[in-house]
Parts: sequence; structure tokens; C-alpha cells
Amino acid sequence: MIVTLTANPSADRAVVLSDALVPGEVQRAVSSREDAGGKGVNVARVVTAAGAPARAVVPVGAHDPYRVLLEDTGIALDVVEVAGRARANLTITDPTGETTKLNLPGAELSAVEAEALTAGVVAAAEGATWLVLAGSLPPGVPASFYADLVSAVRGRWGAAAPLIAVDASGEALAAVVESARPDLIKPNHEELAELVGEDPSLDADVLAEAARRATALVPGRVASALVTLGADGALLFTADGAWRGRAPKIQVASTVGAGDSSLAGYLLADLDGAPAPDRLARSIAYGAAAATLPGTQAPTPADLPPGPIAVSDFATPIATS
Ligand SMILES: Nc1ncnc2c1ncn2[C@@H]1O[C@H](COP(=O)(O)OP(=O)(O)OP(=O)(O)O)[C@@H](O)[C@H]1O
Ligand SMILES: [Mg+2]
Repeated sequence: MIVTLTANPSADRAVVLSDALVPGEVQRAVSSREDAGGKGVNVARVVTAAGAPARAVVPVGAHDPYRVLLEDTGIALDVVEVAGRARANLTITDPTGETTKLNLPGAELSAVEAEALTAGVVAAAEGATWLVLAGSLPPGVPASFYADLVSAVRGRWGAAAPLIAVDASGEALAAVVESARPDLIKPNHEELAELVGEDPSLDADVLAEAARRATALVPGRVASALVTLGADGALLFTADGAWRGRAPKIQVASTVGAGDSSLAGYLLADLDGAPAPDRLARSIAYGAAAATLPGTQAPTPADLPPGPIAVSDFATPIATS
């Protein structure tokens, strides 16, 4: 069982334009869809679509229209009732695949609601293999929320506690890495650089810089790190080694949610007992599949790229295709 938390859920509206986005203009959209978003929800959708057990813990109001979108996903839910409404996130994609995102602020979570959410996650984590803490924190909760939650889950379940994966950024990620030693983090290149206090825009060699940063964290501060690099694929660092996998060449529809699908692919492979290179390959395949689908549509096993994903020990460079 994979349990996910989405502390700051969003209704994701994906709009496809017939021409490039021009600020200040009135433009015609060719299509639009709305999905229950939030990184934990996305991970649970992909895991569920692959036929593996997942539950999503989500704070949501009784009359929030987001609740309908959430129930439409068909994923198993542990809803924690809150007063506020989920925010909306808008993604605008032009015909070249260029994507613009507008992420609105979420509703504030009161201290009482945050406590109820923590209790909901601790209860849902019983017997789970993985607990995934994904996405931003809502206004009102401290940056230590994930770190405190990890302590609460491990304190309650001890040796039976699930492994903990964190896909977050900024202070929430920094705080959990600082004090809670998560079992897996899934930063992209920018999030990893920020985590170690560096500027990714200065990187001449993205792979080398990502490796240097990740090896400073693994396995001391985090047990393993899946570093996704968009079209450049991904790197996996564990106590046992480092691997690099190449992304297949694909027709990009929307890269939104690609990282969430990567994490889901990694966890699905882990549930199957797959070794590290296969976990990395599955994560890249799911990320690439997500990027070929519009909006945050969850890839199914049928959407995966046909060919094998090239993975090598990171010390052994693989041929460029
Ligand atoms: N243009 C692309 N071509 C091929 N594969 C891609 C492309 N973009 C993303 N992917 C796949 O998706 C994975 C995750 O992408 P990325 O590193 O952009 O995640 P992210 O920044 O965490 O995204 P998000 O947080 O929006 O979900 C990559 O490792 C790769 O496998
Ligand atoms: Mg991401």
C-alpha cells in the first residue's frame, strides 16, 4: 500500500492554446480540462491506474467543488474535513508544448485542522509500505510540518512505520532533510540545488553538479535521492551506488505532473521488489509517459514508452543516442 498526503490540494485546469501565449492579448483556447490536482493525488492516481493499492489523504471542505473532482478520480480517499476551499492551478500550453503555470495560494489551514490532518496521516499510514509527502504546504502550517509528521508517524508505528518519500521544495524540503532523514527525496535539478543553498542557473554541467549535491546528502541526510532532470532523464543515488537513466525521445504534450509520475513509477517498481536500476528505469518511463499526455492526466501502463530505458552506473557514461 502506498499512502500519499496532499496538504495543499488544487483543482488543476489545463488550457491548450492554438497559438503561442501573448501576455495582454485575448486568446482562443482549443481545449480545456479540469482535474483534481496536488502531487500526492497525482501519485495515488498513477499507482491506482497501475493496479497497485494506494490511498490519498487530502484536507477538503464538505461543499468544495474540488471534492467532486477528487471523487471522480476513483482513487481511495481519506478525507480530512476542513473549512477552506482548495486553490486552483492553471496550466497554459501552446502548440509547441511550451507550458506556463499559474499556481494560486491555497486556503489557510488552522492549527486544529493541521492537527487533524496529522492524525489522519498517522492513522492512514498503518501497514503501508510507503508514505509519500508531496507538494507545497498550505498557508498557516509551519515549514516543519513534514518533519513533525515524519516523527509522529515513526513515533506511532515504530519498526512497522512505512518508508517515507518526500517530493517538496524550499523550506518544507529543507526542514525534513534537516531533521527527519527521509527514505527517499525526489527533487528536480533546481530543488536539489536550492536544498544545498546553491544557484542552479550557474551550472555548466548539470549532471556533475547534481551528483556532487546528491552525494553530499545520501546516505547521511537522506537514504536515497531520485533526481529528475526533465528531458535529460534522471539520476538515482542510494547507499549502494549511483545510476543514470536517459529519457526517451517523446512528443511532449505537457510536462506538468511528470515528476509526480516519475515518483509513482519508482514506487511501483519498489513494490515489485525491483533493483535500483530498474526502479530508475520505471520512474523515467512513467515521467516520459506523463509528459506525452495532456494536463496532469495520469499515465497507465499502456501509455509507457515502448523501448527499454537506458540505465548505467553513473560512473560509466552511456552512449548518446
Ligand atoms: N521533455 C521530456 N522528454 C522526455 N522525458 C521527460 C521530459 N520531461 C520530463 N520527462 C520525464 O519526466 C521525469 C520528470 O520530469 P521533471 O524532472 O521535469 O520533473 P519535475 O520538475 O519534478 O516536474 P513536476 O514537479 O512538474 O511534476 C524526467 O526524469 C523524465 O523521465
Ligand atoms: Mg516535481
